[in-house]
Amino acid sequence: MNLYKLPRHVAIIMDGNGRWAKLRGLPRVFGHREGAKTVEKTIKFANEIGIKHLTLYAFSTENWNRPKEEVEAIMSLLVEYINTKVPSLIEDNIKLRFMGRRKDLPEMILKTVQEGEEKTKNCSGMDLVVALNYSGRAEIVDAVNEIIKSGKKEITEEDFKNYLYLPDLPDPDLLIRTSGEQRISNFMLWQMAYTEFYFTPVLWPDFDENEFLKALYDYQNRERRFGRVTAVE
Ligand code: FPP
Repeated sequence: MNLYKLPRHVAIIMDGNGRWAKLRGLPRVFGHREGAKTVEKTIKFANEIGIKHLTLYAFSTENWNRPKEEVEAIMSLLVEYINTKVPSLIEDNIKLRFMGRRKDLPEMILKTVQEGEEKTKNCSGMDLVVALNYSGRAEIVDAVNEIIKSGKKEITEEDFKNYLYLPDLPDPDLLIRTSGEQRISNFMLWQMAYTEFYFTPVLWPDFDENEFLKALYDYQNRERRFGRVTAVE
């Protein structure tokens, strides 16, 4: 592994929890619980090898349409994660950040999220971005509405970026999606213009260090040209 050629920002669509559970004859919720364990291990590993920004797609705006018990199970896993893991995030110097439409989040979730951000705000190591109630199109529309409110009549790409949920977050260099699906599913549409995509059939609960390393090796062997003729290092 070339530690000098690591992606700065890795985004992950954690897919396949439901199928992992179904394969074992278990309710879907068990898959999410197992998936939360993978979340913890992935964060630790990413931080150890020196990834600067890790973004995890935890819940999309469309996910509210899932059965009520499943939505509640995912939300309580998130709350449990924040409530119990913040001390270890601080110890590892990891800053927790949320990306999504905050105004539609249930009060209790929003409060927990804000507490997690507040407690880790002085951490200067890896950024851990949790996409929650997130939709790429909604993010773009929210940005446009903010621009309209500001009274601007014209805008550049550079300036547009300042209206996204996390303006200082660099674009993802690498997107990993587990479970064999090969689509972007409304994730970071603006930011992924030049992102390298890596798809693996492994279901999220089975994703481990070895699978993460495979994705990183694959990334390191790509030539990123950004529309130019020669590779950009
Ligand atoms: C996708 O699998 C997974 C989700 C929609 C939920 C992801 C949430 C967690 C792993 C919970 C904890 C998160 C954190 C950040 C602590 P799926 O249900 O779509 O699987 P399927 O496609 O096999 O049905």
